[in-house]
Amino acid sequence: MAFPTNRILSGIQPTGNLHLGNYLGAMKNWVAMQDGYECMFCIVDLHAITAWPDHVDVAQSSREVAAGMIASGIDPDSSALFIQSHVPAHAQLAWLFNCVTRLGWLSRMTQFKDKVGKNREKASSGLMVYPNLMAADILVYKATHVPVGEDQKQHLELARDIAQKFNVDTGKDVFPLPEPVIRGPGTRVMSLRDGLRKMSKSETSDMTRINLTDSADAIADKIKRAKTDPEILPGHVEDLAGRPEATNLINIYAALADMRVEHVVSEFAGQGFGEFKPALAEVAVSVLGPIAERMAVLLDDPAELDRVLASGAEKANGLAESVLAEAYDAVGFLARG
Ligand code: TYM
Repeated sequence: MAFPTNRILSGIQPTGNLHLGNYLGAMKNWVAMQDGYECMFCIVDLHAITAWPDHVDVAQSSREVAAGMIASGIDPDSSALFIQSHVPAHAQLAWLFNCVTRLGWLSRMTQFKDKVGKNREKASSGLMVYPNLMAADILVYKATHVPVGEDQKQHLELARDIAQKFNVDTGKDVFPLPEPVIRGPGTRVMSLRDGLRKMSKSETSDMTRINLTDSADAIADKIKRAKTDPEILPGHVEDLAGRPEATNLINIYAALADMRVEHVVSEFAGQGFGEFKPALAEVAVSVLGPIAERMAVLLDDPAELDRVLASGAEKANGLAESVLAEAYDAVGFLARG
């Protein structure tokens, strides 16, 4: 089977609130790329249980993520939007990859090491083979491009290694090597409370992140209280070096306003955070406010969301089943009679 030339697959875990990092690092780029690519967007519930999420209703969170994607501009009529567990071929292909990927490769994954810390013996085996499932998500559609935030880079390099090893081991050119797309000033949005830590759903304090469902007041308040330093903003990007919180807020502004970082820096050169923060809050509210409003409307009609997800899964199953059959054939399984 020939490879597609421009097919996107990307995913997001239904483990709680969508936040500004998810939006700027991933979803905003998905929306921008939607016209030029055939797009598959997956809500990865199988991934969500690799570290059993405390206090998270995965089903409800899956609907919220679906609503967040549509509210941000994903068009479910042109892009397939679906739930990972509704397409069994993801888990089936992941099993083949469990048998391809070397344990040494998995134990070098920095996200795995960060997540397990000193508790390696207590981590689920699912957490360790998580990147194999992620590779299966992508390769089960022979996706060629994967738009993600910076934190997923290593997993995508592994997905390429898995594709290549599978092709070499079976002697069949089944999988393309997918290209990561890590683009724009929002690929690594940091915590509002610590410019050296990533903005994340798992941080306990809600003040570290802006959620896509936050009210205008909450957004303004979080930005007002964001950690900064006592200096004024410089006139050149290089002079932001060593100022992680200032760099983060400038990057967020640039990503939200679709501006180059250099232009943001020159616009605010010489000003203090007292002037910059209200401007940032204004642009954040103007972009995120309408998304929160649309999300609320969509979540009011869960039956319609479920219908959209079922139709996405139907399209995804059609593509995934044929690639899985090709992979089974390549490893030499007897075809079902
Ligand atoms: P997840 O659910 O942690 O995040 C979803 C997307 O949001 C991006 N992201 C960020 N970008 C910038 N700054 C941040 N602070 C930030 N936090 C999150 C992530 O990079 C990601 O693009 N393993 C993936 C989900 C996944 C996947 C896939 C992605 C499963 N299968 C196949 C792509 C292709 C994850 O946990 O993302």
